[in-house]
Amino acid sequence: MRTGSIRPVCGGALEDIVSLTPIGEPRRKITTATLREKKLRRDPITCLTAYDYATARLVDEAGIDIVLVGDSLAMTMLGYENTLSVTVEEMLHHVRAARRGVKDALLIADMPYGSYHASAEEAVHNAARFVKEAGVEAVKMEGGEKRVDVIRRVIDAEIPVAGHIGLTPQSVNMMGGYKVQGKTLHAIEQLMRDAVALDHAGVACIYLEGIPREVAAMITAEVETPTIGIGAGPDCDGQVLVFHDLVNLTFSPPAKFVRRYGDASALITQAVEAFKGDVARGQFPSDAESYHLPKDTQAALETVLQRKRALRR
Ligand code: KIV
Repeated sequence: MRTGSIRPVCGGALEDIVSLTPIGEPRRKITTATLREKKLRRDPITCLTAYDYATARLVDEAGIDIVLVGDSLAMTMLGYENTLSVTVEEMLHHVRAARRGVKDALLIADMPYGSYHASAEEAVHNAARFVKEAGVEAVKMEGGEKRVDVIRRVIDAEIPVAGHIGLTPQSVNMMGGYKVQGKTLHAIEQLMRDAVALDHAGVACIYLEGIPREVAAMITAEVETPTIGIGAGPDCDGQVLVFHDLVNLTFSPPAKFVRRYGDASALITQAVEAFKGDVARGQFPSDAESYHLPKDTQAALETVLQRKRALRR
């Protein structure tokens, strides 16, 4: 039985259209289930940060699996010293822009420091804002065992969560700086417990940051959840880099784990200096880059100007 809700589209009924998929190789929408499938197939997961419409669109169209609106935007986009001061409102502003650029990739956003630390109720409330107001498909929260009860509550509220352990930048003051974690037997044991706790809680993936590759490999082999490494060696189920590191837009020497794939800084500087020079020399804009009057308006204008000049004489 038809429900009667099918409306005509482009002169035909929707029910008559065989496929709405454009011809060519359509890319499948990446979901949290895709990440698990990729882990099982040993097909590496790719993730990049993006914080605005244009970058998110380029990253998505390049076929990257996950677009992460990381709280690293505190430094890369807003010029803060660290991630601690960025607010929920600031994050939401960027996530909404990225959302408009992302079609196929899984969109994950960082819950900023302080938005999930006081209580599970506040965590669920803030996580729901990211879903309702910015359209994310998962939120990321830093911390393992000690954060797992809150993470479970957010998952219970139907919001997928990405875990993040190892060097967790929101703990910079507790860690006493950005230091590689998991270097002692005791620290390895704690990281293992953290990873297993997140795995049992049912997180969508676990970001492993700044830990020895041997430890990342052990965690990756131990948990069913896909792991995504940054400064955690090649044996994770996937890799993430900060977009600004990838294209040299960070104004500082890169960390050991960063590979620069392009130099946007040089490209932008060259373009800006060339523009400045052209304007200074009167070479921009050219006649071809200018709008022109229609011929008859031009002729009429000439006549008016001639009359005015004659009157002044
Ligand atoms: O904020 C961020 O960009 C991150 C990645 C480094 C994983 O958390």
